Formats: sequence, structure tokens, C-alpha cells
Amino acid sequence: MKIVTNATELVSGCAFVPTMGALHEGHASLFRIAREINEIVVASIFVNPLQFESKDDLAKYPRTPDRDIDLAEASGVTHLWLPNQSEIYPAEPKIISAGELGNKFEGASRKGHFDGVLTVVQRLFELVKPAQAVFGEKDFQQLALVKTIAGNIEIIQAPIIREADGLAASSRNVRLDEISREKSVVISKALYSASRAESLNKARSVLNEILASEQGLTLDYAEIIDEVDFSSAIESTQKKRGIVAGWINGVRLLDNMQMIFGDK
Ligand code: PAF
Repeated sequence: MKIVTNATELVSGCAFVPTMGALHEGHASLFRIAREINEIVVASIFVNPLQFESKDDLAKYPRTPDRDIDLAEASGVTHLWLPNQSEIYPAEPKIISAGELGNKFEGASRKGHFDGVLTVVQRLFELVKPAQAVFGEKDFQQLALVKTIAGNIEIIQAPIIREADGLAASSRNVRLDEISREKSVVISKALYSASRAESLNKARSVLNEILASEQGLTLDYAEIIDEVDFSSAIESTQKKRGIVAGWINGVRLLDNMQMIFGDK
């Protein structure tokens, strides 16, 4: 694996996986998927200040550079790009608006977050010039928004990687203490149970009941949406997805799951 500090050393036409580091099994799975479709896999590690609402959140974001290098190498990355701030933003960046979809759910709670994400992803795409880019379903709204700016880059949608008890892999999980970690399982449990319900109405009540049973969870949102426009799903919605976000002991967790009722 080559460690690259300047984008001119990258190979266009690669499969690209942008990250903010603190790599875990979820990222490893994205790298492996990228390697299956392309011999050249570029991964970037850049903690993008534009997508954090507060300096505190940015400062608290976990940074594990040595482990990241080992994990990337072991999971098929051929070029690990570690750009610095001036390469990504040589001048004041022109902020891309994530529009209406960018203001829903995650965007409603984290003002400007998706504008920051799209601004950096566009810039990364411009510098890397990949043929494909792999994004995880874990950040489902991010994935939907990135598709809107991808142009002719093929966006590969990768499934969520879960721990044995169901918790979705996330860089933020390391901030959960032992008790919070136990409580966190309520989110995936609620989504699994909802996905097994026989109807949309039943799924909504199961989802909310299970989430409400955990006092340690401060819920931000729990909804079953239409995957296409993130409106509230109705019975006839083709592709329904349960989405949940909340805080456990100050750590923000999000998860989602496809809901296919009466078809199992
Ligand atoms: O999902 C992430 O890690 C980030 O939002 C991304 C896509 C690397 C942009 O900074």
C-alpha cells in the first residue's frame, strides 16, 4: 500500500472510499468491496471541518492514525491518501447546498452538516477522479445526497456492518462506556423488530415502543420513510426504510434498516 500526501500521485479511474479515519470493520468492508471491483483502491482520510457544527465535536472526533494504516492495508487499499487542509481547501470553499433533503432528519439536527459533506465529497471527487466510489448504507441520508452530485462516477451502496449484538459499526462507538454500550443495542433491536412487523402501522408502533423502553436513549428521530425522497412512508411506498438517531450518554448514534412487510 502506498501512502500518498499529494493527489497528483493518485491514479484516476480507481475505486474510491472517502473516510474521516478512526477506521473500523465497516470501513474495512467498504475497502474490500472496492477491491472486488477495481484493482486500484484509493482511500482518503480527511476530517472535514465543514461538516461539524461545533469546534468541540470536531475536536472530539476520534483519531487513530497508526491503526488506520494497518486496517487499510489489510483490507485491500492500494493508495491511502492523507491530504492536508490546504490541498482540499486551497481557498475559501464554495459551499454546495444539500437542498431540501439536506434539511431533513440528520440535517435538521445538524445544521449545515450535509452542505459540508457535499462540499468535501465534490472536492475529493474532483481531485481523485474515480470510476466508482463506495459509500455505506449506515449514513443512508448521506448516501442519497452523494448520489445527487456523483455525475458519471458510479456510486456503490454497501450494507451496514453490525457487531454480534446488532449495533451498527461506527467511529463513534469507541466513545460508549460499558453501560452505554449495553443500552445502545436498543436501536438495532427496535429496527429488527419493526422490520418483522406485518404492516407499516404495526412497525411504527413497535419501533417507538422499543425505543421508549430504554430510558438512557434521548431520541432525536425514529421514522419509516420512503427511501427515495425521505417522506413518511405510506402503505404503497415501494422502498421503505426505518431510520433512527439519538444520543446515549452524549454519544450520537444512528442506524437504519430496510422494511419489507408481509413478504417474508
Ligand atoms: O462518511 C464520512 O466519513 C464522511 O462524511 C465523508 C463521506 C468521508 C465526507 O467527509
